[in-house]
Amino acid sequence: MKISSSSLLALRCLALLQFCTHRAIGWGPTDPTDGFVSLPLNSSNLEIQRPYDLPESDRYSFIDGVHRLWVFATDKPHALTSMTAPRTEIRILGYDYSSGVWQFEGYGFVPNGTTGVCIMQVFGASTRATTAMMRVYNGSLTYYRTPIIVPYIYDQWFRLNVIHDVDTKKVSIFIDGVLKLTADDHGGASHYFKCGVYAQNDRSYYMESRWMDIKVLKKCD
Ligand SMILES: *[C@@H]1O[C@H](CO)[C@@H](O)[C@H](O)[C@H]1NC(C)=O
Ligand SMILES: *[C@@H]1O[C@H](CO)[C@@H](O)[C@H](O)[C@H]1NC(C)=O
Ligand SMILES: *[C@@H]1O[C@H](CO)[C@@H](O)[C@H](O)[C@H]1NC(C)=O
Repeated sequence: MKISSSSLLALRCLALLQFCTHRAIGWGPTDPTDGFVSLPLNSSNLEIQRPYDLPESDRYSFIDGVHRLWVFATDKPHALTSMTAPRTEIRILGYDYSSGVWQFEGYGFVPNGTTGVCIMQVFGASTRATTAMMRVYNGSLTYYRTPIIVPYIYDQWFRLNVIHDVDTKKVSIFIDGVLKLTADDHGGASHYFKCGVYAQNDRSYYMESRWMDIKVLKKCD
């Protein structure tokens, strides 16, 4: 018997519902992933976008569960026809969405010195390219250029959860399980998640971020 992906999701949600009911009775601490189900994700869901003239191994490594992505300010864009700034990014494939409540989870790390860079984005919007961007400027983690989400982020692992509620048009950003920011999204009909390094204004020559345990989650109805 072939189980469709939607009925598989329904089954997982049912199991999750039972789990959550138990958790609610126990008054356990809340977590950004409560009520969400983690969707199957393997290497075929991770497209590595990098300067078009270079092999992947020149800008990306995956060792001991850690995705390391780096780029230089003078690098070429990710496609010959692209006019955008240099980037090395993981583009999540297979979970583009246009409705519902979706979540990205990952453990991130930004080494001292990396600045003027986007390290995670929710792609797709109507009036601009993105729904949300997490950037690093001078050691601070910011939402776009402002406001600051974490004043000093260098050289430490942090847990990032970004929830995009397409129906209420809101984005919520959690660091280490704590809600730091809620913002309006920017419309649009198709979205997906990316993480890595995508050069912005006032960039450093060298930019790097590392990621572990990347997950895509979807809220159960
Ligand atoms: C990833 O999972 C899909 C099914 O969800 C499977 O078809 C594919 O072979 C897997 N790829 C790898 C590299 O494991
Ligand atoms: C970060 O790097 C700068 C320049 O290399 C150095 O002066 C500074 O002490 C470093 N900061 C930390 C916290 O390592
Ligand atoms: C980062 O620091 C540099 C040098 O101190 C400064 O010129 C620049 O305006 C700062 N950028 C931001 C976004 O704060």
